[in-house]
Amino acid sequence: PPIDEILSLHDFEAVARRTMAKRGWNYYSSGDDDEITMRENHNAYHRVWFRPRILRNVGSVDFSSSILGHKTSMPVYITATALGKLGHPEGEVTLTRAAGKHNIIQMIPTLASCSFDEMVDAAIPNQIQFLQLYVNSDRSRTKKIIKHAAERGVKALFITVDAPQLGRREKDMRTKFEGNASSQQTQGGDNFKRDQGAARAISSFIDPTLNWKDLAELKEAAGEMKIVLKGVQSWEDAVMAAEAGCDGVVLSNHGGRQLDFAPSPLTILPQVVTILKSRGFMTPKAPFEVFIDGGVRRATDVLKAIALGATAVGIGRPMIYAMSTYGEQGVSRAFEILKDEFEMNMRLIGAPTLSDVVPNMVDVSALNSA
Ligand code: FNR
Repeated sequence: PPIDEILSLHDFEAVARRTMAKRGWNYYSSGDDDEITMRENHNAYHRVWFRPRILRNVGSVDFSSSILGHKTSMPVYITATALGKLGHPEGEVTLTRAAGKHNIIQMIPTLASCSFDEMVDAAIPNQIQFLQLYVNSDRSRTKKIIKHAAERGVKALFITVDAPQLGRREKDMRTKFEGNASSQQTQGGDNFKRDQGAARAISSFIDPTLNWKDLAELKEAAGEMKIVLKGVQSWEDAVMAAEAGCDGVVLSNHGGRQLDFAPSPLTILPQVVTILKSRGFMTPKAPFEVFIDGGVRRATDVLKAIALGATAVGIGRPMIYAMSTYGEQGVSRAFEILKDEFEMNMRLIGAPTLSDVVPNMVDVSALNSA
């Protein structure tokens, strides 16, 4: 359909399902095992309700935000998703360009189809980019990547910690992996397995021995870049990350692509934030930011996460579905849709700015009940 018939982020998925090549669709859309966590990621948002306020002068609303000290037009960033060329021949640079136009931060994936430098070169001056990092068993490779990222102006490293082994995504495994993996395939050498889907073909270099003791070394290599752990799934680990000197965590289960029956990030967010604050983190003196991703499809989803203490949320699949069917224009359309949704919904809940989106604007009494 023509792009102006796309009215929500859900629509991009419906169109991608019908139009994408099977290989790409199977890789993008799959979750682990029975995909219970993947579905729950979005469903959890259905159990949080607003407590709208009235008569608050919402003549103009402001949803601009700041992520790790960098201004952005919305409390939303493009999270890392691998293998962009399975969806669009130009790959991830289409995301970069749309992000630049809309002042949105892009998290560059280690396993992108485009090279890291292509994605940095596609950015406009002062466009902020983060790098998602899979830590290689060969640490010298990882350190090289970190050093290069710092030289190219990347502002933060998001170290993925929920994937010591890639999950079983059966839909993807039924597709034989053909062609070139990512430009980063040299990460793992050329001997990747082609017969069990894209995910397994490209991930064999990831180090399963990675542990808390390795953080100091990575932090040191990162220099000025901030460090965020992506894939935290309990308050205990969020506290450990803060105590280890990280700058934040992403509560995430990798879009339901790793452990099935991992909790939806939204369900653990209130507890994580309460406990971090009780330990003195998330304050001006000890700034620590909590992000979440998984199943975010509407500005109302984002506003719920913000009310519960998140700084911003990551959006994955809708971005690559938009890219796959409409290229850069599709990704831009996704941002425009979100902006319209923010404006209307902030008016309707009675929040002129994001700092007005506080815990008592949501009712979470049903969030953690069956
Ligand atoms: C991912 N994700 C991911 N995460 C990561 O740290 N490194 C990676 O290479 C990838 N690759 C990847 C590929 C695809 C196709 C998907 C869908 C996801 C996980 C991603 O960053 C994020 O956690 C989820 O995508 C968020 O969920 P939604 O928005 O897709 O529901």
